[in-house]
Amino acid sequence: MDLRAVRGDITQADTDVIVNAANPGLLGGGGVDGAIHRAGGPEILAECRAIASRLPGARLPRGQAVATTAGRLPARWVVHTAGPIWSATRDHSAVLRSCYTERLRAADGLGAHSVAFPAISAGVYGWPLDDAARQAVAGVRAASVEHVQEVRFVLFDDRALDAFLAALED
Ligand code: APR
Repeated sequence: MDLRAVRGDITQADTDVIVNAANPGLLGGGGVDGAIHRAGGPEILAECRAIASRLPGARLPRGQAVATTAGRLPARWVVHTAGPIWSATRDHSAVLRSCYTERLRAADGLGAHSVAFPAISAGVYGWPLDDAARQAVAGVRAASVEHVQEVRFVLFDDRALDAFLAALED
């Protein structure tokens, strides 16, 4: 499996799957979530709404995921996951790693050959970037897959790109 980190806007990624750093309500938000819904169009939100209405309490547990159409995006599917909120007193890093491991398995189950990830939890959810990058790389490396050949971390700025490049070198 080829792992790489690039700078860019994940909505433009031409991978089969892009992963969305969503929230348990699944109805959109800011950051990468907002960008995906804006660029992908209303079809994604309509599918998220239908899925949410069938979930207990209309909420997706953190660390779990659902797949939808990618609407107008170049990708074929969006896999939505809600990362953990950073806490200085409780270690949620296993949940963050599983966001990558399990999403990669889900993408593999869809038959995807390529998957793009943003830096889950490293924005609004406050996870320190260097550690977010280490957890991301560890999470991806922990997955065994059949179809996925390329995993691309798509980072929005140079600071995030540098953190992921450093984690990939470790
Ligand atoms: N492409 C790639 N990365 C992006 C993009 C984009 N278009 N837009 C933002 N990012 C980056 C941010 O710079 C950050 O490094 O994605 C990373 C994750 O940030 P957030 O989007 O804030 O995600 P997260 O920290 O997981 O917080 C999730 O934010 O918008 C809400 O609905 C979302 O409530 C949820 C929370």
